[in-house]
Amino acid sequence: MKAAKFLGLVLAAGLMLPAAAKAETVIRFSHVSAADTPKGKSAAHFAELVNERSNGEIKVEVYPSAQLYKDSEELDALQIGAVQMLAPSLGKFGPMGFRSFDVFSLPFLFDSTEQASKVLAGPTAKKLLEGLDERGIEGLAYWNNGFYVMTANQPLLNVDDFFGLRIRVQSSKISLATIKALGALPQTVSFSELYQALQTGVVDGADYPTLTNLDTQRICEVQKHITLSNHAYLGYAVVVNKEFWEGLPEDQRALLEQAMADTTEFNNNLVDQETAASLERIKATGNCEIHELTDEQLAEWKAATAGVRDIVAEEIGPEVLKDILAETGANAGE
Ligand code: LMR
Repeated sequence: MKAAKFLGLVLAAGLMLPAAAKAETVIRFSHVSAADTPKGKSAAHFAELVNERSNGEIKVEVYPSAQLYKDSEELDALQIGAVQMLAPSLGKFGPMGFRSFDVFSLPFLFDSTEQASKVLAGPTAKKLLEGLDERGIEGLAYWNNGFYVMTANQPLLNVDDFFGLRIRVQSSKISLATIKALGALPQTVSFSELYQALQTGVVDGADYPTLTNLDTQRICEVQKHITLSNHAYLGYAVVVNKEFWEGLPEDQRALLEQAMADTTEFNNNLVDQETAASLERIKATGNCEIHELTDEQLAEWKAATAGVRDIVAEEIGPEVLKDILAETGANAGE
């Protein structure tokens, strides 16, 4: 075939490409939760907003359920540019040196998602996000998920019930210290490996990150008891590779920022209703017994874990701890 004719065919084929194939900017957004969780739904909502508002010029591809990377790998993948966007839980930033983020994993820090949203929109949380840029990460937003529960094959009601149990924690020093303070043996397990670790008895129970995750990971197939202790908060930071972000044209960055602000509102309005729906679904399976703590039991858990703040204050940074406590309305001595 003559070169000119071949070139003509290639050009014609190019003109016939569907709109999606012409997308100039692709954002791979990886996360470890199921698509049907607040994080999964929010990531999909963000993708939809961006794809629509940019007329296909920016394409956000969402990869849920650790399809691409486990939680122990995803921040490295972001830094080398293998993915452009993530939403790790706030406890995941400590192991990479950003210890102040651990403040959000303190036991009994927040009473409600509303209070968490307010503090995460405040000045100290904003400063922490900005600090990520020294490692090539741009922090775009905080998304709520909700509160931790405890699971095991026996009821966990009094602090004595924890004695000697191996309990899974995420890779956060605060979660480790909390479980130790309750008298159990903490063991770090990746979120995507947790079902199997519970099934095979590698751990006896879990410091479990929210009812929406518990529901979508079908944890009641491998655990018999859930305590609705709400003993710690689980939130996410939506982050993007900084070099990629700064290389985007200004109008695209503005569009993405607006879509992120709209999605953050969408996410924060979603969490409480999704948590309630998950609790109903979990109850309907009849596989798990659900326990609420009495006021006395709750006071016992709070007293047992009160010292965690002091153990980790130096690492978090006393100023950050003081400021976040002030923004919750508590004081450092509480
Ligand atoms: C965890 O490891 O417990 C959390 O990071 C899970 C999540 O929702 O990201």
